[in-house]
Amino acid sequence: MNSNLFSPLQLRGLTQSNRIVIGPMSQYSAVNGSATDWHMQHIGHLSLSGAGLFMIEATSVAPEGRVSHGCLGLYSNENEAALKRVVEFCRGFSSMPFGIQLAHSGRKGSGHAPWEGRGTLQADESPWQVVGPSQIPLTKDWAVPVELDREGMERIKRTFVDAALRSDRIGIELVELHAAHGYLLHQFLSPLSNVRTDGYGGSLERRMRFPLEVVEAVRAAWPADKPLGVRISATDWVDGGFSPEEAVVFSAELKQIGCDYICVSTGGLDPMARIPVEPGYQLSFASQIKREVDIPTRAAGLVISAAQAEEIVASGTSDAVVLARAFLDNPRWVWHAAEALGVTLAYPKQYERAHTSKWPGARLIRGN
Ligand SMILES: Cc1cc2nc3c(=O)[nH]c(=O)nc-3n(C[C@H](O)[C@H](O)[C@H](O)COP(=O)(O)O)c2cc1C
Repeated sequence: MNSNLFSPLQLRGLTQSNRIVIGPMSQYSAVNGSATDWHMQHIGHLSLSGAGLFMIEATSVAPEGRVSHGCLGLYSNENEAALKRVVEFCRGFSSMPFGIQLAHSGRKGSGHAPWEGRGTLQADESPWQVVGPSQIPLTKDWAVPVELDREGMERIKRTFVDAALRSDRIGIELVELHAAHGYLLHQFLSPLSNVRTDGYGGSLERRMRFPLEVVEAVRAAWPADKPLGVRISATDWVDGGFSPEEAVVFSAELKQIGCDYICVSTGGLDPMARIPVEPGYQLSFASQIKREVDIPTRAAGLVISAAQAEEIVASGTSDAVVLARAFLDNPRWVWHAAEALGVTLAYPKQYERAHTSKWPGARLIRGN
């Protein structure tokens, strides 16, 4: 069968062999921002998955831009060497390209990993001062951020550029800036977290200004043949918050300055937001942006089955699908999707004996 999901996708000089992207997933397992053996096995085993692209988790551009002490970073030579070790290890046995999500947590930083309860770090846990567009904390229990001045914003912009240059040196093929999930760039976009009265707050045009400046600076430094994308939260799911209409305007501006795709997520700015989570709950936002802005999009959020993913791409709802938890559940999701869609996929030669064409058990197990 001809599959749209398994058709190649070209973004600048990068050709993805299919439209399936393994979404960025923070592992909270770094030490001083440096990747560890956990990353070797986590990224290593998923690099055998057959996905068209692996997105390296939210990677902080500065120590204080991490969410927790365990977050991955790319702000030191040690961080660069550690991530290079992981990428080179994977290259030894996989041709899967890598993207990296560069991030700054802003007011959401200085917290615990999810399995430690996520809350803010206490005085005896080496907390750090968080920053943000305005002095509005994430929740009433979270630290009040210091409002960034122009100098602080310039400094953060430079750290994004530096991290992109480090990513290029590592050989990473794609950069994505994290402007979703309540991270710093999203904090600037949303009127709920940005009440500045200078040129960077107020109207949408002003709230977009800092995120656009960061994207512009990174685009100028990132090689012209390598794609750059932005992940956004298309809605805060809160009245008076960042809205789908604003997301369309922001995406159009991003397109103007050389952004190659928008990865469309939602939420994360207000922990109290009520999100109607169900299969494909964020799809309509991706398709709206694709339709109205005419820019490639990636759809994320409870994309679970091969048929659903195929339909998303075939219908033109989105150019690619991003799956996260489905890959933790089943690292062979791509193999099984290919089988379900009648696509012949090459397996690593060491695993060929489990190929559908050679092992009758494959069909029996999956009831195909
Ligand atoms: C363990 C875990 C870590 C995540 N970390 C990130 C992250 O670093 N950056 C990000 O943009 N989204 C992150 N997400 C969100 C996923 O990328 C994805 O958008 C979300 O889980 C919805 O997709 P899914 O239903 O396929 O899991 C994370 C999700 C999980 C489950």
